[in-house]
Amino acid sequence: MLETGKVLLNEKVGKDIWRMELKCPWIAKKAKPGQFVNVRVKDVAEPLLRRPISLHGIDDANGIISLLYLVVGRGTEMMTHMENGDSIDLLGPLGNGFSTFFHGRRAVIVAGGIGSAPFYPLMEALRKKDKQIKMIYGARDEESLACLDLYEEEGVEMILVTEDGSVGEKGFVTNPLDRLLGEEGADFVYACGPEAMLKAVEGVVEKYHLKGEVSTEARMGCGLGVCLSCSKKAKDGKNRKCCQDGPVFAMGVMDYE
Ligand SMILES: Cc1cc2nc3c(=O)[nH]c(=O)nc-3n(C[C@H](O)[C@H](O)[C@H](O)COP(=O)(O)OP(=O)(O)OC[C@H]3O[C@@H](n4cnc5c(N)ncnc54)[C@H](O)[C@@H]3O)c2cc1C
Ligand code: FES
Repeated sequence: MLETGKVLLNEKVGKDIWRMELKCPWIAKKAKPGQFVNVRVKDVAEPLLRRPISLHGIDDANGIISLLYLVVGRGTEMMTHMENGDSIDLLGPLGNGFSTFFHGRRAVIVAGGIGSAPFYPLMEALRKKDKQIKMIYGARDEESLACLDLYEEEGVEMILVTEDGSVGEKGFVTNPLDRLLGEEGADFVYACGPEAMLKAVEGVVEKYHLKGEVSTEARMGCGLGVCLSCSKKAKDGKNRKCCQDGPVFAMGVMDYE
């Protein structure tokens, strides 16, 4: 479960967004779309806690994974200084991933900001099952949208949304989602992004009586289901551990209040 990854590439791909490729064959072999790794920059005392980052690429054949990360604080800022050949201590793959079993062919992916990170391996898995994929990808502005070329190469039909209207539709992802589900329908919806977005997306999906899954976030400690720091309330009144019961949950399970 612990593996030392070797950095193969670490490049800026958007506003405060970086993409890192790592050689770590064991994790690449075991990982499923939607799982994450707990990252610690090796040989430094600070930050002590590991940082959870989703798997943005899983290349089992070549033993390579990739991470897409937004710089928000000390840990992610330190990651930007990693160079080719450097080592990173990784714990993973962790959590449960996305399910790819659903009736019908039409998948809709809704991503808000860095919430796009876990979706590339899911797209690859869905394409292998001959599913059709539409992605509604929203962010603050054009520079905050990353890796569009990768998704287009995967044959994904993209609907871009920005808050400032600098590219695509102006507004929030729920507007085109409501329109798409109303006009064409879908067989399954996946979403990842800020909680307010997840709540709104679930509302739209429920309106059309559809099913889906969300990938959620929480402040994490151990990543292994032990420390309970990632506990979040579910609608049944019980808590769920984001690291172990999630980060992916069926829509309708979590309570975002
Ligand atoms: C399962 C999971 C998967 C994730 N995948 C990705 C990913 O693929 N790419 C990515 O960029 N980020 C991802 N995150 C969020 C990422 O873990 C945090 O942004 C990171 O830990 C921040 O570390 P830091 O040391 O840079 O910032 P810190 O100094 O720890 O925090 C800086 C700011 O970020 C906020 N923050 C820190 N951690 C979180 C968190 N978990 N959720 C929401 N806000 C947070 C803090 O409140 C603070 O305002 C994921 C989180 C989880 C739980
Ligand atoms: S992070 Fe420790 S229980 Fe989830």
